[in-house]
Amino acid sequence: SDAELHDRIRAAKATLGEKVVVLGHFYQRDEVVQHADFTGDSFQLANAAMTRPEAEAIVFCGVHFMAETADMLSRPDQAVILPNLAAGCSMADMADESGVEECWEQLAEVYGDLSAVDDEGRVPVVPVTYMNSSAALKGFVGRNGGIVCTSSNARTVLEEAFARGQRVLFFPDQHLGRNTAKAMGVPLERMPMWNPNRPLGGNDAADLDDARVILWHGFCSVHKRFTVDQIAKARAEHPGVQVIVHPECPMPVVDAADAAGSTDFIVKAIQAAPAGSTFAIGTEINLVQRLAAEHPEHEIFCLDPVVCPCSTMYRIHPGYLAWVLEELVAGHIVNRIEVPADVAEPARLALERMLAAKP
Ligand code: 13P
Ligand code: SF4
Repeated sequence: SDAELHDRIRAAKATLGEKVVVLGHFYQRDEVVQHADFTGDSFQLANAAMTRPEAEAIVFCGVHFMAETADMLSRPDQAVILPNLAAGCSMADMADESGVEECWEQLAEVYGDLSAVDDEGRVPVVPVTYMNSSAALKGFVGRNGGIVCTSSNARTVLEEAFARGQRVLFFPDQHLGRNTAKAMGVPLERMPMWNPNRPLGGNDAADLDDARVILWHGFCSVHKRFTVDQIAKARAEHPGVQVIVHPECPMPVVDAADAAGSTDFIVKAIQAAPAGSTFAIGTEINLVQRLAAEHPEHEIFCLDPVVCPCSTMYRIHPGYLAWVLEELVAGHIVNRIEVPADVAEPARLALERMLAAKP
């Protein structure tokens, strides 16, 4: 039964004590979050992975790229465990190393030597990858002078990237890239989208000449569900409603919302609001439902009337958490996520630049 599962998790954690730390992303279901020692957004969880060096194991209740990042940032002998190895991220899967390498080669045909610096010390293109990407891509970015960003520090990272380069190649999430660059004043016509299926991305030379941000085609299947019509309906039915969405939503949705920000931004906005506020939220349903339950003083609902969980986050069932913890008690490390050293070394450079770029 559920109660037994929770008792097993608590018992295993009590036996392990300081030897284990359980991290949980905000999108995890309540049955998992209740056992997390720390809950946060991607940026906070990357930091959290470095703040418990005494733990022998970090159990990461989130998705694969988050566990990979925790492995690269934690002490080498700490084991990072992903309770269910099938917990991936469909957006992260939309950019692979060979595709990005191919794009990089084609960009070199357009812009020339990509390591050559201009009079202002800037290279032609700086690669920026969203945290939601494989370790291999973070390694690519690190090797090529680029930076990892999260949704909470994307703007600071892009500012840093523009200081390093004339333009940015941003992947995998077109929406985060477009929304962030637009908020910084980059015109849409200077953000061509790379089309991997056509030579030179299907962009004509003029597009690329003038490009400030070259966008990859990736997107989040959860956040692309939110629409401007849903926002109009929320405003019509709830006068005074504040609409807050995640920046993985399409640009028209972000433009129609009152604010956009990372999961932690959404949590903090609700915490800071005066009692009696009404919020329509455009992000994953487990977080929205938890916020609604934790804040009975407000009215909080999801913009999308159809329940839209992140199906891969949802793959971390408490049963898997109980299993990996009990195996640890028995002295076995299961479901370890280990990034090979040749990938982790350059990736760490790009991650350190990310950690230095505060939200
Ligand atoms: P945050 O960095 O805002 O937690 O977002 C992670 C994510 O996967 C959103 O879909
Ligand atoms: Fe990936 Fe979207 Fe799930 Fe976030 S919500 S983990 S971007 S699929």
